[in-house]
Amino acid sequence: MKKNLITCVLLLFFIQSGFAQQNTNKRAEWFTDARFGMFIHWGVYSGAEGFWKGEKLRNNNDYAEWILYRNRIDRNEYVTLLDRFQWDDIDPEEWVILAKNSGMKYITITAKHHDGFGLWDSQVSDYDLGDYTNPKRDIIAEMAESCKKHGIKLCLYYSHWVDWEHPLGWDHTREIYKISESNYDRYWQQKVIPQISELLTNYGEISMLWFDMWIHHSESIVTKEQLLQLKSLIRELQPNCLINSRLGLSIEEDPDIDYKTLGDNQLGDKKEEFPWQSPATVAHSWGFHISDNQWKSTTTLLKSLIGNVSLNGNFMLNIGPRANGDVPFEISQRMLEMGKWLELNGESIYGAQAFDLNKDLHDWGKITCKEDGNSFKLFLHVYNWPLSKHLNLTGITANPDRIYLLADKQESTLSFSHSGAFTEITLPKNQPDPYVSVLVVEYKAKPEISDELVAKTSDGGYSLLPGNQNPQPKSMEITPSAKYGTVPAFVAANGVSDFSWKIYVDKPGTKRVDVSYSFQGYLNNSQIVLEVAEQSLYHSVHPTGQTVGEPNQDWHIDNFESNKMGTIDFPEPGFYTIKLSIQPTERDPIKFQWLWLK
Ligand code: GLC
Repeated sequence: MKKNLITCVLLLFFIQSGFAQQNTNKRAEWFTDARFGMFIHWGVYSGAEGFWKGEKLRNNNDYAEWILYRNRIDRNEYVTLLDRFQWDDIDPEEWVILAKNSGMKYITITAKHHDGFGLWDSQVSDYDLGDYTNPKRDIIAEMAESCKKHGIKLCLYYSHWVDWEHPLGWDHTREIYKISESNYDRYWQQKVIPQISELLTNYGEISMLWFDMWIHHSESIVTKEQLLQLKSLIRELQPNCLINSRLGLSIEEDPDIDYKTLGDNQLGDKKEEFPWQSPATVAHSWGFHISDNQWKSTTTLLKSLIGNVSLNGNFMLNIGPRANGDVPFEISQRMLEMGKWLELNGESIYGAQAFDLNKDLHDWGKITCKEDGNSFKLFLHVYNWPLSKHLNLTGITANPDRIYLLADKQESTLSFSHSGAFTEITLPKNQPDPYVSVLVVEYKAKPEISDELVAKTSDGGYSLLPGNQNPQPKSMEITPSAKYGTVPAFVAANGVSDFSWKIYVDKPGTKRVDVSYSFQGYLNNSQIVLEVAEQSLYHSVHPTGQTVGEPNQDWHIDNFESNKMGTIDFPEPGFYTIKLSIQPTERDPIKFQWLWLK
């Protein structure tokens, strides 16, 4: 009987955790599909524009929304910044329309940032817009209405950990002037819990709560119990509301966290199977800052979005409106340009995913993909229109059905040839899109890949590096590029060291082989041996000397030199394995950089 009971409890536990996992994925489906959202940093600080009493924000990391803390402003005086707000001109619907026209599917607005000031009419605090505007303004209510009207998901940023207003909230000076856990819990119970209840009760559907504790809870004053209390309150009030990992719980620790938020302006660098997101700015600051002007170009921003989607990620791009509601032109212009691009090319972004090939395989851009009814589509985002007007696609063994430009409504097909694991596409002479042109490669079903290959570059060669061997030898130590990139990455061969790569050669013919290395020893009998297609090439290693990395800086570095090894005849199209052996005869290492075949 007892045994049965235990089995039942265990079963229930597994079923429940199974559901939790499934629900998590279900809940986040819209987010995964949406891919692109707007972040809005707007609050009292927007009136300061990065300056307080003529003094610029006291920190080189000019985050304008930090001015209260950075410039040690009294919180009661801080709110005098609201005198600068031009309420008649402020219309949140304009932000929502901008998001819509920019192709964004959700908006996350700072309901309460670290300054502790709420943008709604909160009944549990008197530090909010309801108490400081006449007639009362409730920006969250206005946003909720506009988002509903325009079909955009409303998400709220809420600073739970840091609060510079509440006498018992976390302010970084608490590192010096401590606060007890029990006092901090009073802040938590008095402000965080009831405010989250208000936000999830009074404004209709909230699609996501975006928390901002960028460290793990164990390093902070916040306890895991407090976070779990908050999480279960959210699950109870709005079970579909997403929660990001900056709650302070990682998705590894708690699979019920819906997605991972990377660092500020941190783009993805590897494919993940769970949902994730990069929060990003067009310049640097989140809140409006009068001297912030390192504007990223539209192309850069589009590439950030595409790059993230190609690794299963999301991209949330920020606006910091001014105290009259205006969005800086440099931001809105770029966003609208992205929107125009998405109008033509959105199919490669919304609901699209990472493809299975290595993310850095091709030198021309990034790939996303989509299963689409009866076909499978690859979207090739071409960042650099090849001079040859031919696009080399390596690694796919299936023959495509057809290829066309995504922006071409007629879907006029482009000619191509395919053999083995290589497709060569003939491109129109002129790059059709000034930012990024997208080709659709259609297959009957998800194509098989050959993912151990090194791709043919846009200029028709093969760049064989220690780092793109596949599989990567476990014991091989690659010394990363150093001295600001003036010294390239290499492998120091102290004894015989073997390397190997696989390539697909699509046309028979002769290719020249060059090997690049640095050797600082004396002339001896060390050699480098290459074997491929039943042919061998030998190179006698010679000292390569030094070079100047940077003029007038006493910056002398080992010279890496490319040497012709000879030529190899590839008798027929096919897969070839290239083996390279570095054979030093003395203690001085041969630093192998790369092999070039063309
Ligand atoms: C950081 C900053 C904050 C900004 C946020 C956006 O956590 O503290 O000011 O809101 O990043 O990602």
